[in-house]
Amino acid sequence: MTPPLLPTRFTELFGLTTPIALAPMAMASGGSLAAACANAGALGLLGGGYGDPDWIEAELGRASDLIRTDPFARSRLGCGFITWKLDQDRRALDRLLESEAPPRTIMLSFGDPRRYGPDIRSVGTRLICQVQTLAQVPMALEAGADVVCAQGGEAGGHGVSGSQNRGTFTLVPEIADFLASQSPDTLLLAAGGVADGRGLAAALMLGADGALVGSRLWASAESLAADGAKRQAVGASGDMSVRSPVFDIIRDIPWPAPYDFRALRNALHVKWEGRIEALKSDPSEARAEYQAGLKAGDYSRIHTPVGEGAGLIRAIDPAADIIRSMTQDALERRRLPG
Ligand SMILES: Cc1cc2nc3c(=O)[nH]c(=O)nc-3n(C[C@H](O)[C@H](O)[C@H](O)COP(=O)(O)O)c2cc1C
Repeated sequence: MTPPLLPTRFTELFGLTTPIALAPMAMASGGSLAAACANAGALGLLGGGYGDPDWIEAELGRASDLIRTDPFARSRLGCGFITWKLDQDRRALDRLLESEAPPRTIMLSFGDPRRYGPDIRSVGTRLICQVQTLAQVPMALEAGADVVCAQGGEAGGHGVSGSQNRGTFTLVPEIADFLASQSPDTLLLAAGGVADGRGLAAALMLGADGALVGSRLWASAESLAADGAKRQAVGASGDMSVRSPVFDIIRDIPWPAPYDFRALRNALHVKWEGRIEALKSDPSEARAEYQAGLKAGDYSRIHTPVGEGAGLIRAIDPAADIIRSMTQDALERRRLPG
């Protein structure tokens, strides 16, 4: 294996050449993107999302085919799940754990991981637990997390809503201090707004062992996101990214409290963001507009689920190029004197 340019405890434990993990983004992190990240030396987490066992099996198979020749890259593949959804149906997780070669890493986000941690660890799979507050960390430790991932409110996709969410810049060092005193062998990733080398360098300076990257890799060539949506992200500034329940209600994806969803603030969002209760009680008009938007490929009505890092996305590049340039740039910045 090539020695890592930016060695950390995370690169060492997971056999990586850069301290970057692909976020397990539902409907975006498929086998091609996970494999591209693993081949580039990062951790490639498939977006197992809402837990469709056949989709996960097929995409993991695709990823394995794409890295057949590289034993190190194979061990860099993993899968993420939405924990509250597992509480309703855990068949996808069980199928993976019972398979001949369970993935080396599983990540759980959004819910209580303690029911699943022991089963995951019992087959030798490493566990990453994504949290949004300091108060959730003890639960992740009880679940047996090898890695805690601290997700700030800047993050794209789902996260903790409104007044309860934390900024990455303070959440990461606070959790770093907590882990240093309570569980020093547990690693820490930073998530939320890490979209270039500056963000990666900052994450390491804040006390993380690496970064989980979502939005920037969502807008990569290999991501399953629609090209039209990726182009919206390239043209957006971080000012346009907004957190709300609007698109979950419109798409009829009922997330439990305290979570909501971050996406670009388009015309359909603007129309409903001040009328959440009315949208909840009768979403039919908004749903019809959204469906019409889907048919027309009209992003004033369809959502683009990127975080505040949108303003740092300048092009739809291959994942390997994104990872290489983030790593090189972070390395240069760490070498700066003073
Ligand atoms: C389009 C999209 C979908 C996501 N889906 C999931 C998911 O299914 N499971 C999960 O754990 N996190 C998901 N996330 C959140 C990521 O794990 C991560 O916290 C976030 O992307 C980091 O912030 P960033 O987008 O600024 O890089 C998603 C993020 C995005 C942008």
